[in-house]
Amino acid sequence: MSTKPVRVLTLVCSTRPGALGPEVGRWLLDAITPRATDLGVELVPVALADLNLPFLDEEEHPSSGVYRQEHTRRWSALVDAADGFIVITPEYNYGMPATLKNALDYLGREWAWKPMGFVSYGNTSAGTRSVQHAKQVVTTLRLVPLGATVAIRIAEATEHGRLRPDAARDAAAVGVLDELVRVAQALRPMRERSGARPGPLPGSYLRRLTADDAPEVTVLQRCCWVDEALTNDTLAVPALSESLDQVRDWLDTWHTTGVWLDGRLLGMVRTRREGDDWHIGRLAVVPDLRGQGLGRWLLRAAEAAAEPGCDRVTLVTGAKSLRNIDLYHSEGYRMVPAHHEDGTASLVKGLATHR
Ligand SMILES: Cc1cc2nc3c(=O)[nH]c(=O)nc-3n(C[C@H](O)[C@H](O)[C@H](O)COP(=O)(O)O)c2cc1C
Repeated sequence: MSTKPVRVLTLVCSTRPGALGPEVGRWLLDAITPRATDLGVELVPVALADLNLPFLDEEEHPSSGVYRQEHTRRWSALVDAADGFIVITPEYNYGMPATLKNALDYLGREWAWKPMGFVSYGNTSAGTRSVQHAKQVVTTLRLVPLGATVAIRIAEATEHGRLRPDAARDAAAVGVLDELVRVAQALRPMRERSGARPGPLPGSYLRRLTADDAPEVTVLQRCCWVDEALTNDTLAVPALSESLDQVRDWLDTWHTTGVWLDGRLLGMVRTRREGDDWHIGRLAVVPDLRGQGLGRWLLRAAEAAAEPGCDRVTLVTGAKSLRNIDLYHSEGYRMVPAHHEDGTASLVKGLATHR
């Protein structure tokens, strides 16, 4: 799973002049910022009052993603870039405020598979009816509401329009953030899968690997190239010894495709143009899924991605890696008859010239 930091939007929902919402939003940020720093979480405070969203004025259904209004595009970009939300909401007439319902209605897929925590405030019910109301709506959008919550009874918690210090409330807010981050991480595969290219195994999907994936890639290649080291009787195998930083570096300069299933990296392949050659490397499949055609599928996908003008595909493997060499031969590669000092062998395959 990617190590990209989790980005959390804190959303103050009340928009009326003199509202208590901004004060609750400030308190929340003070209470959770130290924990967010420890967790590497980026907090993005947003006030619906600043967004000036009118009542929904888009022609198309939000699921279309067709947004004609600039305010919708801005809101969409903010929500899309977030991994989770903490909504700071009052209770209006036993329900959520219309501003929150409106802001939810504007968008579709941007909300999907992200956790939403609530900090509510109100009179006798401390805003909890607002939260119950919001929860049944947000699940329709595939938002995942949290169990952890903060509910503030205004009369007891405030003095002259300010929140009184309350260590228990601070701790509850940290509890919301902790749960939010865990759920946001757990839901990452769900978010990645929506809209991604399907992979060869049921439920699997493809995604370009970036430097954020270096930990997963390092584990995969170390595990996969142990066999290579044993077969070729050498430890001088870069994929075995590369540091995390070295892996990050090559992920930046190669186009690497990963096959994922439920947050697990099952296989990968990297490609790069070198002159008129299309170079393919680091073809790897987790040990428990070998023999199911995943490597061959990745190899063919890597070849199909060759840039126009490339006239051949090249790759390198251990000179004694007979299983790999068999696969490459069966896919039309031929061995280059040169002797490599490092015990590797090069293979090539011509590409159709009309590309
Ligand atoms: C239109 C309206 C409806 C309200 N309805 C409720 C309610 O159903 N339950 C409740 O506990 N408080 C209710 N209140 C009181 C609010 O909890 C309190 O005014 C709170 O400060 C509102 O949040 P805001 O200041 O951020 O707008 C209502 C207030 C407004 C303005």
